[in-house]
Amino acid sequence: MKFFVDTAEIAEIKDLAETGLLDGVTTNPSLIAKSGRNILEVIAEICDIVPGPVSAEVAATDFDTMLKEGRKLAAIAKNVAVKVPLTVDGLKTCRVLANEGRQVNVTLCFSANQALLAAKAGAAFVSPFVGRLDDIGEDGMLLIEDIVQIYDQYDALKTEVLAASIRGPGHVLAAAKAGAHVATIPPNVIRQLYAHPLTDKGLAAFLSDWSKTGQSIL
Ligand code: G3P
Repeated sequence: MKFFVDTAEIAEIKDLAETGLLDGVTTNPSLIAKSGRNILEVIAEICDIVPGPVSAEVAATDFDTMLKEGRKLAAIAKNVAVKVPLTVDGLKTCRVLANEGRQVNVTLCFSANQALLAAKAGAAFVSPFVGRLDDIGEDGMLLIEDIVQIYDQYDALKTEVLAASIRGPGHVLAAAKAGAHVATIPPNVIRQLYAHPLTDKGLAAFLSDWSKTGQSIL
């Protein structure tokens, strides 16, 4: 499963990119607002740091304006994935941009039928929002399982399932078990994936024993 980071904070992206485990970045209008940055500038910077797909979301809701915005975002860098909402106009935009050879991430997906439409519209990624379904008392991970199962049955559907609205390590584990191609994960949750108390305890014991040997490897 590929790991994308869900943020527009440059310092976080640089830090995580240095681990060599970061496959891409997703942003959305809320994350751009939180960063306080100009969208065109910050997306260009992110694309310089991370060679993988960088999702940049349109802000319009009508087809003509969405398409213009999508083309402008796509022109920033080769690795921009234009993000469009799962609406009729969003999917029309997806189809045109996909035909032009652009990667499109269809976002705000909350049902398997919506995901089927996104795949038929030529999306490179579909983003089902796991946490927001959990928030309203549904099981968001069941949606990931359904979409993976549906896509697996049709060779013609090339869309990757990008588990979004990930809120904790449990979601990452469940997304991987369900066969999601990608998870977009907040920076703090990516860092939590490294942690285990027995790793810390074991390392402390090894270092203590090692110091008793008086040896040095270098
Ligand atoms: O980028 C879309 C998604 O990951 C947002 O997550 O936590 O705002 O529901 P959240």
